Amino acid sequence: MNLQPATLQKIDEVITHYPVKRSATLPLLHLIQEDAGHISDAAIEWVAAKLELQPINVYEVVTFYPMFRRQPIGRRHVKVCRTLSCALLGGYKTCATFEAEFNTHRGEVSPDGEVTVEFVECLASCGTAPVVMIDDTLHEKVDCARAKALAAQIKAEAKQNNVASSG
Ligand code: FES
Repeated sequence: MNLQPATLQKIDEVITHYPVKRSATLPLLHLIQEDAGHISDAAIEWVAAKLELQPINVYEVVTFYPMFRRQPIGRRHVKVCRTLSCALLGGYKTCATFEAEFNTHRGEVSPDGEVTVEFVECLASCGTAPVVMIDDTLHEKVDCARAKALAAQIKAEAKQNNVASSG
């Protein structure tokens, strides 16, 4: 399992916050998903060993909570808020626009492997709804036109990356 040194450090620190190691299961899984994008079988085994549990104990947690992803995501991650303010101001249409632009469905990886579009809960910017987080950048007031423009930008960047990596 390839985790960033900073993630490994946080994991070791988080474990010390709990009197019983197994209580750190959820926070550890969140940290791993943040870093790796999903929870692989290897990650489940790794967490189990780290917390002195059986892999099945960790597997049950991963499959119980819908926020844990078992499959890798695309290189770019588009998270559309679906909580009240954003939903009322068109978040669902915004999400549908991204899905159409990338020819994908929520939670899946686009056919070119580039993008995963997902719904998330409140991104704490309700006054500028609908809000979208692309990788680590927050975009405000993303109506369909803005979603199309952002999608075009992502596609252009993907093209540039492909040219750079093939040249
Ligand atoms: S409801 Fe979307 S950011 Fe709060």
